[in-house]
Amino acid sequence: MDLEELDRKRMPRHVAIVMDGNGRWAQRRGLPRTEGHAAGEEALLDTVYGAVDAGIDWLTVYAFSTENWKRPRDEVRYLMNFNERLLLTRRQELHGKGIRMRFIGRRDWRVPKRILRRIDETVELTEKNRGLTLTMAFNYGGRAELVDAVRSIAEAGVRPDKISERTIARHLYDPKMPDPELMIRTSGEYRISNFLLWELAYTELLFTEVLWPDFRREHLFAAIGEYQRRERRFGGVQVAE
Ligand code: IPE
Ligand code: IPE
Ligand code: MG
Repeated sequence: MDLEELDRKRMPRHVAIVMDGNGRWAQRRGLPRTEGHAAGEEALLDTVYGAVDAGIDWLTVYAFSTENWKRPRDEVRYLMNFNERLLLTRRQELHGKGIRMRFIGRRDWRVPKRILRRIDETVELTEKNRGLTLTMAFNYGGRAELVDAVRSIAEAGVRPDKISERTIARHLYDPKMPDPELMIRTSGEYRISNFLLWELAYTELLFTEVLWPDFRREHLFAAIGEYQRRERRFGGVQVAE
């Protein structure tokens, strides 16, 4: 689908993506699963630049979940190194395009210190940019995020009767991040897998059979086209004019 076919006045402000299917992409080619992760880099960059061209303000991608530590040690190590290298080799290019990079997830002992350092450097490098905000969900889990929010509310000593939905939203990993209007999951899996549990409450969900390494900006535009055809009600009813 072409960008010109979309209604520019009804673009989602925030799109979130579960980048899934790397392992299957590789297996279908008789390659090790890790080759699928490597091939996902091009998909990510094309999608990011497509989002920039579409004028989307926020793009959030699920890069590593709190459950992904269960994978074989070699694959986990590969993913850590892969994400670190991706930051190192791509951040200048992304910075040059005015992209602001952010991270959500748990900074626990399992994440190698040098990766946390790279993350901090990257956030700092790009923090003044005013283009697309690209958020990487890394060692991210929706339940962990809610647990961490509850902990920080308790630590702040907020009185129970003062706790509202806004209080919780303000204690999430990135309080400034708006809720996504659209979530895309690739690879034909129909689940959330612990992604943005709070934030997805009223998000339009779109599932595609395309495996992540094959995903390109055209698929993003097609997903936005589908989103624009949907009627969002937020629990209300559509009143006839
Ligand atoms: C998504 O692809 C990437 C990560 C979870 C890091 P998978 O590795 O889950 O690929 P499949 O689902 O096994 O095909
Ligand atoms: C979700 O994909 C996590 C990421 C894409 C980073 P998974 O492949 O880990 O999810 P499940 O295991 O199919 O639910
Ligand atoms: Mg998967």
